[in-house]
Amino acid sequence: MMHDTQPKDDAHWLAEIARLRRERRAVIIAHNYQPGEIQDLADFTGDSLELSRKAAAIDAPVIVFCGVHFMAETAAILSPDKIVLLPEPAAGCPMADMVDGPSLREMKQRHPRAKVVCYVNSSAEVKAESDICCTSANAVRVVESIPGEIIFVPDKHLGGWVSRKLKREMILWNGFCPTHARILPGYVEQAKQEHPGAIVFVHPESREDVIALADEVLSTGGMLRVAKASTAKEFIIATEIGLLHRLRLENPDKRFYPATPNASCPNMKKITREKIAHSLANLSPRIEVPEPIRSRACQAITRMLELP
Ligand code: 13P
Ligand code: SF4
Repeated sequence: MMHDTQPKDDAHWLAEIARLRRERRAVIIAHNYQPGEIQDLADFTGDSLELSRKAAAIDAPVIVFCGVHFMAETAAILSPDKIVLLPEPAAGCPMADMVDGPSLREMKQRHPRAKVVCYVNSSAEVKAESDICCTSANAVRVVESIPGEIIFVPDKHLGGWVSRKLKREMILWNGFCPTHARILPGYVEQAKQEHPGAIVFVHPESREDVIALADEVLSTGGMLRVAKASTAKEFIIATEIGLLHRLRLENPDKRFYPATPNASCPNMKKITREKIAHSLANLSPRIEVPEPIRSRACQAITRMLELP
């Protein structure tokens, strides 16, 4: 059936996925920025930290990772015995590509006493050069756990926010997320004027002048939790727009306004139902991380996951 060249509709690909996920005993996990129809078919959705924990704990031979490359790679680092599939291998993260192993090694040579904290949005090679990993949900806690000088890679905005919050200087890499960079303070100010009384949630990958307008600075998982618990009815959301799907689904009585509808990550939108079906059928594209990079990267991730 998979070799037929006739175009197929959504129902066909959904049926194929339903059949193949059973046959392969596969678990499908999706990041909160995935298109709504991909989140809807996933077994688990979550932020980067939740998905790392899930990937480490999953009891299934096949994991289909609906997200970007570094996320599937993190799952492969944590579960080398499992088949980890990324349905679209070109779904990368431009921020993760802003640092590589050789340039980080050079920075470490210039600061030999510094410990390296790497945002999970980084390659396995960069994680292997790092002392500990972090996500946007635990970056403050991770930095607090490290005494002395710190090199923080690659996100200057996340690192800058942690540094201001803890009143602690760090050596910041000059990376950033091009999608969050599209969220400008003027958009948030305009949304506040249009919706006075709305609570402003900002992701820490945003620019400093956007973070300054936040009522709460949160990871995507944090936004979902705080929105659900809040008695407020209106929220301005300054992050990638994929998160709106779950926010609206889980809070039908509340209203969520994107700071800008242009904050869409093109890489996150590369995963489709058709690609998931092909990936399950062919058990490819498979993400594997060679030794010794894998075990060195695994140490940095495990140190993060073991923090209380
Ligand atoms: P979180 O889901 O951890 O907040 O991450 C945001 C992100 O940019 C993932 O690419
Ligand atoms: Fe990378 Fe930004 Fe896209 Fe996340 S939203 S995958 S950080 S480019």
